[in-house]
Amino acid sequence: MNNFSFQVPTTIHFGEGQIRKLASSLKVYGKNVLLTYGGGSIKRSGLYDTILDELKNDFNIFELGGVEPNPRIETVVKGAEMCRTHDIDVVLAVGGGSTIDCAKGIAAARFYDGNPWDFTSNSRLVTKALPIVTILTIAATGSEMNGGSVLTNLETKEKLSFHSRHVIPKVSILDPTYTYSVPSYQTMAGSADILSHLFENYFNKTPDTMVQDGIAEGLMRTVYHYTPIALKNPEDYGARSNLMWASSMALNGLTGSGKAGIWSCHGIEHELSAYYDITHGIGLAIITPRWLQHILSDKTADKISQFGHRVFDLTLDANRMTTAQETIRIVYETFVSWGVPMTLGEVGIDDSLLEEMAVQAITHKPLNTETYVSLSKDDVHEILKMSLTEMNF
Ligand code: NZQ
Ligand code: ZN
Repeated sequence: MNNFSFQVPTTIHFGEGQIRKLASSLKVYGKNVLLTYGGGSIKRSGLYDTILDELKNDFNIFELGGVEPNPRIETVVKGAEMCRTHDIDVVLAVGGGSTIDCAKGIAAARFYDGNPWDFTSNSRLVTKALPIVTILTIAATGSEMNGGSVLTNLETKEKLSFHSRHVIPKVSILDPTYTYSVPSYQTMAGSADILSHLFENYFNKTPDTMVQDGIAEGLMRTVYHYTPIALKNPEDYGARSNLMWASSMALNGLTGSGKAGIWSCHGIEHELSAYYDITHGIGLAIITPRWLQHILSDKTADKISQFGHRVFDLTLDANRMTTAQETIRIVYETFVSWGVPMTLGEVGIDDSLLEEMAVQAITHKPLNTETYVSLSKDDVHEILKMSLTEMNF
């Protein structure tokens, strides 16, 4: 295990009815609130009215609605301008990863004179940010409890991130009932994203990380157990609460600290999202089993079969390749059983730009040197080509 510092200063108010802590959470920062939200789900669910009711007496609310899934840099610029104009004290982000990531960009851009897109090539440019409070409405990214922000620049076809402790939310309200209205497509995408965050840290070269791996295995079992329940009955509190907490735990440093190296599937998926504006978690579900298949070898069979043994209760075959192959089959078939579209064609992607995206993936991330198994441009291209057709086992 490598050296690390671990600090997650987000106060979590978890459970039904925790919205009553909202006013007191905001009050410590001031009266002028920038309320950011997405395309309208919070209006349809009634959460928007609840929030305005909670805040009606003591706050001046300024609104920035319409934050896009795969949030645009232009929206960040617009929000930062609103913060300056209205002397905003605190940003309240209500929604999923897109709204929260956009809020992080806004909070940091408020104090930055240049183009906030600069943050994606140098996170150190973020030296200060407005405080952020979030109300999470979908279990997926973990953005509610980390310092990451993923922004999209459609003009340059880039989807890139910045990371800063300054934008870790101060408070996040996690009421699982707010996720009852998440459609099944987004529910499965969210679960695939949570799993991917766990996989990306689990398949890592750093030895002796049993603490992190054990926590990750427990979280993976949780997601595999509860996702079909939430899909069948969207208002199952037990399922929604476990998925919500798993979302936060999967990407708050708990399973990733003490490890070196960068992630494989996210670097590839972010190119799919940047070029085709697809749902992040669906892209990950498509890429992940192909990536596992592509990297399967004598060197990786032990870890992949360990995952299958501990998460899917597979018997460890004397020939680890057999167990590892069965593990990959289950990863794929489970996504199929949830109803995830599992080929690129089903999400509107053909073979015309696969090579270009492979080049970009390597340009944006050192996938060829610093991943669990190094991936050249040709490897990424091959994984993308594999994603055009169904997998047969
Ligand atoms: O925009 P609205 O109308 O709210 O609808 C959203 C959106 O269409 C809908 N939704 C959310 N909560 C709902 C709901 N619909 C009904 N009822 C509810 N309660 O779901 C759709 C997706 O929302 P979005 O915020 O985009 O989802 P998600 O949380 O998956 O966020 C995805 C973004 O986060 C980035 C992704 O790349 C993507 O841009 N990521 C952020 C990370 C981070 N900050 O740590 C890490 C991740 O790996 C990821 O890259
Ligand atoms: Zn993700």
